[in-house]
Amino acid sequence: MFYLANDRYSQVIKALKYPDCRHIIAAIQYNSDTFEEKLKMSEIITNEYWINRWTEGKTFFHSEKRHTLADQGHYIVGVDVAEQAFKEFFADQNLEYTEEHLKNIDGKLFQAMDGRIKLYCMDFYLFTKEMESQFNAIWDHGSLVAINIIDRIKYSQLIKELMSSDCRYVISAMQYDESKYTGHPFYLSEKDLKDLYPNCTIEEFDEIDRSYLYKDYGLDNMMERMYLLQPETNSESI
Ligand SMILES: C[S@@+](CC[C@H](N)C(=O)[O-])C[C@H]1O[C@@H](n2cnc3c(N)ncnc32)[C@H](O)[C@@H]1O
Repeated sequence: MFYLANDRYSQVIKALKYPDCRHIIAAIQYNSDTFEEKLKMSEIITNEYWINRWTEGKTFFHSEKRHTLADQGHYIVGVDVAEQAFKEFFADQNLEYTEEHLKNIDGKLFQAMDGRIKLYCMDFYLFTKEMESQFNAIWDHGSLVAINIIDRIKYSQLIKELMSSDCRYVISAMQYDESKYTGHPFYLSEKDLKDLYPNCTIEEFDEIDRSYLYKDYGLDNMMERMYLLQPETNSESI
């Protein structure tokens, strides 16, 4: 979830800091009429749905283009529930890897031989900061927009635990006319981000027209907007 595709990679790289009692307040605020309304409208997507999509090759979101985060010296950790995603990644990049079962959790750890890339195949909600400590960069591409809206608060609470105090957290948000389409990728506004991450500054830094992808869903217009979130006390402009 923290790693793959984006075709405005250089912008992301350019853009690329725990919860206190206020995040509980955020959770309550987020339980607004709008949130309840979105909840009723959204379909519930299971982990099996995603695993099947990968098995059946229905992964148009997946980019074959190589991004060079690890090559720049970063230590990369990814999480995805679909084993196929990681196997394809290592095959595409022609990287040798090891594979081991996780202790005490249903899942596997795939690691590139040079130790720079660790990919956890597991349910993201079972991931803990004890597994890898905190992160100073998080790239959330196709993740917050992919999960069920009912899980957004749970997801954001975990992300907040994983953010170091100087973390730069990039999120790609899909925005379109919600009256025309309510499924995946789920609509995510800047207001939604403010509700989920009230202790972060939020800066929009790029947008990409994705209208061509969802014409069949009755949408004439779909924008992918990129946001940089940083813990308020440590924020710097891009
Ligand atoms: C839209 S795809 C984006 C994949 C990748 N991040 C990218 O940008 O190409 C959403 C991904 O989230 C994974 N996923 C969905 N729910 C998950 C969960 N609860 N735990 C771990 N991975 C999950 C799916 O398997 C799928 O690969």
